[in-house]
Formats: sequence, structure tokens, C-alpha cells
Amino acid sequence: MQTSLSGIQPSGLLHIGNYFGAIRQHIQLQDQAGENFYFIADYHALTSSRDPEALRNFVFETAVSYLALGLDPAKACLFRQSDVPEVTEIAWLLATVTGMGLLERAHSFKDKVAQGIKPSVGLFTYPVLMAADILAYDSTLVPVGKDQIQHVEMAQDMAGYFNGAFGDVFIRPEMMVPKAESMQKVPGLDGQKMSKSYGNTIWIFETGKPLKKIINKIVTDSRPPQEPKDPNELFLFDIMALFADQSEVDEWKEKVRLGGDGAPGYGHLKGFIRDAMEEYFAAARLRRYELIADRGEVERILKAGALKARARASEVRDRALTACGLR
Ligand code: AMP
Ligand code: TRP
Repeated sequence: MQTSLSGIQPSGLLHIGNYFGAIRQHIQLQDQAGENFYFIADYHALTSSRDPEALRNFVFETAVSYLALGLDPAKACLFRQSDVPEVTEIAWLLATVTGMGLLERAHSFKDKVAQGIKPSVGLFTYPVLMAADILAYDSTLVPVGKDQIQHVEMAQDMAGYFNGAFGDVFIRPEMMVPKAESMQKVPGLDGQKMSKSYGNTIWIFETGKPLKKIINKIVTDSRPPQEPKDPNELFLFDIMALFADQSEVDEWKEKVRLGGDGAPGYGHLKGFIRDAMEEYFAAARLRRYELIADRGEVERILKAGALKARARASEVRDRALTACGLR
């Protein structure tokens, strides 16, 4: 039986790169046979957060976002990472069989250090906690965005180290990454990968005037509409393709390629993107308002999810403790 598992950090408002690169896959998997575990990686977020109130809000907002976007608690277990303390116990067990060298090779750690972030021990051991997340629920499939591939590979390695030392304790899961390249790297307002750290994001639930304002910030150039252009050089179309039918996108592209009086200006194309996005998330936006008004319900869903997740994680933890001689 398939058990899918994934997590997302509550480190800010979720953007459309998070949605098309990761969240959408998570939600789609709930309709396949098997179990699904999705959690809000609040322990991981603490490697960068120093604002307790903001962290609390982002955890709530992340839960609400998943539910509003279609996660069904009857089909998928949604919970907070820190509600399952067994995960930190498993992380310790994995740390004892993992060489420093493996963690020293982590791209995301090296990137953060290169950005000038002073690393904590927690940031260095981030992949060990992530491996514990993955292995604690006997997951068989881990859907993630492209930038998480190395972390999942490390979890596979750590399962192998522990099993090599103590017998078959952990299941080695497969990973799943969005097939389409356009979903692996959704461009932000400036054409670079959309990312909180570049300040080029579009919030999933943005609407009305603020949405118009943000879409207008998509970087273009000053060439007039009449000038024929290569549409494949305009990342504006990559954003459009997230929300519109391919045939519609192709029609616009053809007009831009031909130029002349029938060609749309950038403002026109941005208006189209805005309307398409407004409609794409309309139902989710309404559902979000309802959930925000019912905090108690969101809390109940997270608690019920944690109960189920803990039951599984404690079985796996016990298996690991026995195998290595601590029980
Ligand atoms: P982050 O909060 O940046 O760690 O992202 C959470 C998830 O969304 C990860 O699985 C990322 O791979 C995915 N993701 C973030 N930004 C993008 C993007 N611009 N395009 C596609 N996927 C993304
Ligand atoms: N590191 C992931 C991210 O930043 C979040 C995460 C934590 C995760 N634990 C996980 C993803 C386990 C998949 C499985 O996106």
C-alpha cells in the first residue's frame, strides 16, 4: 500500500511557486489508494524564525491554505510536526549513524552559509530531522519540489545506514517531483525562481487591487506591442500558462510573435493573467475566509491528524529502539 508523506515550512505566506511546485501534488495524491501524511514543519521553521507570534500565525495560515486548496482531512492526515515528538527521538537515532560528511555536502546548507547566514547546529542537522519526518511514518512516496531532492536522497541514505547497522527497521521511500519543468521552477516577478528570499512572490490568495498591483510588477521591457517578439523569451507566458489553457496561451504567443496592430501590449497580457488567476483560486479563496472564521475547526483537524500520526510514529520509534538495543 502506498503511504505518501510531505511537509512544508510555515515560514511565510504560501506563493504560487509553492502551490504548483509542491502543494498541488500533495493534494492530488489524496485521491489515490493508500494513506497520506502532510505536516507543517514548524520545528524546521525554527531554524530561521525568532518571532513567536509570526510563527504561530504562519502555522495557522499554512493549515488553512492546505484545507482551502482542497486537502480533505478524511483522506489525508494534516498535522503539526511538533505535535509528534517521536520524530525528534528518531532524529537522534539517525544522527548517531550519519557521518558529518553527508551533511557537509548538503547544497541548501552550503547556499545558506554562502548567503552569509550564521549557521546553527539545527540548520546543519536539518536533513536529519527531515529524514526522521520521512521515515517515522513508514512512508513509501515523498512528493517534493525539485530543490528538496537532495534532502530526500539523504533520508534514503540514512535509512540505509540504520538498517545496515541494526536490521530492517526503516522503509526506504521513493520520491516524486513534478514532471513538467515549468512546475519545477515557477518564475517570480523578476523572472528568477519565485522565492520568499528574493521578494518576488505572488501570494496564492491575492485578489482585487493588490493582485492587480502585483501582477503589474511582472518585469517586461519597453518594446512596443507592434514589434514582433519571440514569445519564448518572455517569462510572462510561463506565469500565464499556470492558469490558462494551453490553447489560449498559444494564441496569445502567436499574436506576440507576429506583432503588428493585432498584437497585445504587456498590460493587456497582464490583465488576462490577473483575471485567470482570480478565477483559478476563487473557490479556494472563499473556503479560506470560512476557515479563518472557524479557528476551532482548524485546530480540531490538526489535533486529530496529530493523534493518528503519533500512533504511527510511536510504532516506528519502538521498532527502532528495540533494534538498536535501547529496549
Ligand atoms: P520553500 O518554502 O521555499 O521551502 O518551498 C516549499 C516547497 O515549494 C518546496 O518543495 C519547493 O520545492 C517548492 N517551491 C518553492 N518555490 C518554488 C518555485 N518557484 N517553483 C516551484 N516550486 C517551488
Ligand atoms: N524541507 C522541506 C522544505 O523546505 C520541508 C520538509 C520538512 C519536508 N520535512 C520534510 C518535505 C519531509 C518533505 C518531507 O520544503
